[in-house]
Amino acid sequence: MRVVSQNTLSGPPIAPAARVGMFAGLLTRVPSEAAWTLCGVASNDRYTTRSEKNALVNRQAPIGRPDATSAALILLRKRAEWWAFTQDERRAILEEDSHHIAIGMRYLPAVARRLLHCRDLATQAPFDFIGFLEFSPGDEPAFDTMMTELRATKEWSFMDREIDIRLTKADV
Ligand code: HEM
Repeated sequence: MRVVSQNTLSGPPIAPAARVGMFAGLLTRVPSEAAWTLCGVASNDRYTTRSEKNALVNRQAPIGRPDATSAALILLRKRAEWWAFTQDERRAILEEDSHHIAIGMRYLPAVARRLLHCRDLATQAPFDFIGFLEFSPGDEPAFDTMMTELRATKEWSFMDREIDIRLTKADV
């Protein structure tokens, strides 16, 4: 995928990249010209209630739709203070206070999402999460509106590092 823009919203930047590749499974071969490599794992849900999960399953679209040729790779790290909270305290900030799931739900199925977790890896990672979100080019303004809403929440005030990389598959 070709990089269209690479913006650092908080914390230190990473090296600029012209293209981003995504590989599933164990990474045995890193292209020698790679500016950086990030790893994450898909995990179980931690915060979602049963009724939220049912609503998500009913609305969400899979990654890889042919018309979803635009994407955002969003790299996030949360402050130690966030991780010191208990599970129920984090859930309260994420949803009851910040409405992360309710906000996101409004943008389904236009936006498809994949979230990878990096904190539980054996080696220390520079980010806690890798978010990959896919949409058709015409839905990018709506995607930007969603990001503005999410970034204004209490949850996002715990971010100490955020990099937003926009990608296109249209001319691969
Ligand atoms: C497309 C609309 C979106 C929906 C429907 C959505 C939904 C959700 C849900 C249900 C969870 C809770 C998962 C769990 O139970 O563990 C979650 C967590 C999360 N989402 Fe979203 N989300 C959306 C957009 C985004 C965007 C644009 C980002 C930016 C990268 C993002 C980043 C995250 C992160 C980092 C978490 C984990 C929070 C934590 O564990 O501290 N989400 N999202």
